Amino acid sequence: MEIVIETRPWRDVECDWLVVAVPQEEGFPPELSAVDETLDGLLSRLREQEDLTGKLAEVQPVYEVPNVAARRLLLVGLGQLKELETGKLSKAYAAAARSMSSKKDRTVAVLPAPLDGTHWPIDRQAQVITTALVVGCVGQGLFRSEPERFEFREVRLVVSESHEEAAREGAERGRILGEAINLTRELVNRPPSEIFPASLAARAEQLAGELGVDCTILDEPRLRNERMNALLAVAAGSDRPPRLVVLDYRGAADDAPTLALVGKGVTFDSGGLSLKSSENMSTMKSDMAGAATVLGALTAIARLKLPVNVTAYMGLVENLPSGSSYKVGDVLTARNGVTIEVQNTDAEGRLVLADVLSYAVDRGADRIIDLATLTGACVVALGEQVVGVFGNNQPWCDLILAAAKDCGEDAWQLPLFDHYAEQIKSEVADVKNIGGRWGGAITAAKFLEKFVSDRPWVHLDIAGPAFASNSKSHREGGATGCMVRTVVEVARRFASET
Ligand code: BES
Ligand code: MN
Ligand code: ZN
Repeated sequence: MEIVIETRPWRDVECDWLVVAVPQEEGFPPELSAVDETLDGLLSRLREQEDLTGKLAEVQPVYEVPNVAARRLLLVGLGQLKELETGKLSKAYAAAARSMSSKKDRTVAVLPAPLDGTHWPIDRQAQVITTALVVGCVGQGLFRSEPERFEFREVRLVVSESHEEAAREGAERGRILGEAINLTRELVNRPPSEIFPASLAARAEQLAGELGVDCTILDEPRLRNERMNALLAVAAGSDRPPRLVVLDYRGAADDAPTLALVGKGVTFDSGGLSLKSSENMSTMKSDMAGAATVLGALTAIARLKLPVNVTAYMGLVENLPSGSSYKVGDVLTARNGVTIEVQNTDAEGRLVLADVLSYAVDRGADRIIDLATLTGACVVALGEQVVGVFGNNQPWCDLILAAAKDCGEDAWQLPLFDHYAEQIKSEVADVKNIGGRWGGAITAAKFLEKFVSDRPWVHLDIAGPAFASNSKSHREGGATGCMVRTVVEVARRFASET
């Protein structure tokens, strides 16, 4: 998809669709009054007829447009301007993108939102809008003979000459982020017979090669050498051997601190011998979303050339029942020596992460973020659209919460009080892999905490938001690519802070 910055007057820009954003407040801001005037009062008439509410993400196509080169007009609501934030701006343009992408080869022109004189610089707007368009025109119908969604042929961002450079830079960043999100979505949406540990590792290696990022893949013998017995136990039931992918991006000096991104990559989670019901298993191709997110984020960090050192770790296994599966009652010795009593083979993500986290610590991680579709309990606690945030270091948590907020991604911190550790005490080992009925998202995080040593660490439970059960006007069902933006933003802040 081509993205160009247009400095011609907007009325002269040829396109299939011209997108104009409309606030909900009564009366149009000056930029919009000018548009209205050119269109012979079309917008005012629509508003009088109550056909143009300006409600957030409400779209209104207009097929006959006077006095302009555009063939059609798409009006999209911004909601109340004084309440506008990144997530809402993004939602509005994503809804617009979705409504324009049902036909092939469309050329789309976009006017910036009427935000002159607000705290919205043009580069930021261009970034958010471009990401929304890049993500919004790609669907999950990878295997449909009649796809419902088509990438735009070209996007033309219409700005004044004085804004050209800023818009170009913002749009470029926005495109890189959008493509990273789409990469993550594609990997999560692909079926588990295509995406398994070795194939996902190969894809990561290929991407790393294209980006000039160092890639190391640990296969089964090397994982055994590294004593990753917890990860290996989860993998034991599958005919597909596990992998650990390590991607080293070095954008800063060798002695600069390293940010570690750790992703849960269970390419299919059947539950193992503690088998899931068919219903609960139905979306478990998405259980590698954490790994896909760290990969997506790392590609963006590398393409943006952020001045920071980041290492991404993808712990890749398949959790299946068979004669070679690990069993309930097994005791595993994790890589760092902690012994784990297995009481449920469906609590496998924390076992994989345990070994990968301790490996990241030993490889010199200065700060850690892990991302995992870890617990159904987190979805019970926070719902399907909010990321659970847990950590052992409040300033590091705060940095991630602030980045998420600025990216328009909803995330909420849950506590890790000491007493939760009692729930995962075992009679036979140091710890057990389930913590009982209450506070399941927290006891899972409490388990992970035992493997990060003293490093500032944040765990993001993305079990709810990573995979959407249905489509909405502003986003496609299936994989969402949630937290790619936030992780990239965290890397940017980490760079400027250290
Ligand atoms: N991958 C699941 C968690 C999950 C559930 C992700 C729903 C996305 C949507 C994880 O491996 C799991 O099975 N967790 C168990 C833990 C339990 C056995 C302690 C769960 O949440 O039920
Ligand atoms: Mn599971
Ligand atoms: Zn799982």
